Amino acid sequence: MRNNERDGITGYLLRDDNTYLNVVEGPTEAVEAMLRRVAKDSRAFDFQILSLTPTQERQYPAWSMGYHEHSHSQVKACPINTFLATPATQSVEPVLAAMQMLGLRQISNDRRTSQRVTNP
Ligand SMILES: Cc1cc2nc3c(=O)[nH]c(=O)nc-3n(C[C@H](O)[C@H](O)[C@H](O)COP(=O)(O)O)c2cc1C
Repeated sequence: MRNNERDGITGYLLRDDNTYLNVVEGPTEAVEAMLRRVAKDSRAFDFQILSLTPTQERQYPAWSMGYHEHSHSQVKACPINTFLATPATQSVEPVLAAMQMLGLRQISNDRRTSQRVTNP
């Protein structure tokens, strides 16, 4: 969160016990530098870039890195559950849509685990 705030990066991190899905948005150079650091990080084994898309506006402008720990006991048909169980075989697009809904909910539910950017 500290690095991202410094580098103008926003996004969202979703995780369960084994899988992290990180949506990252910001200036290309800053995002690429950050991805290079994560790719070298031994905690991020089996690191993959699933989708790389130029965008006009941010989806998570208020988060230096919003955070959600996902429980599989939530809705079974949720695209997030399917993705986290078998990430290599899934399309990431439905997950991004579901994550955006979680992100919006997170703003009102839990201010402790995520740091909001005050001046995005
Ligand atoms: C799942 C995962 C997500 C990460 N996300 C970020 C991130 O959003 N921004 C970031 O700067 N580092 C992130 N890191 C940490 C980087 O791998 C790296 O440790 C860090 O950028 C080094 O920063 P430092 O040189 O300031 O210590 C992540 C690591 C993991 C394992």
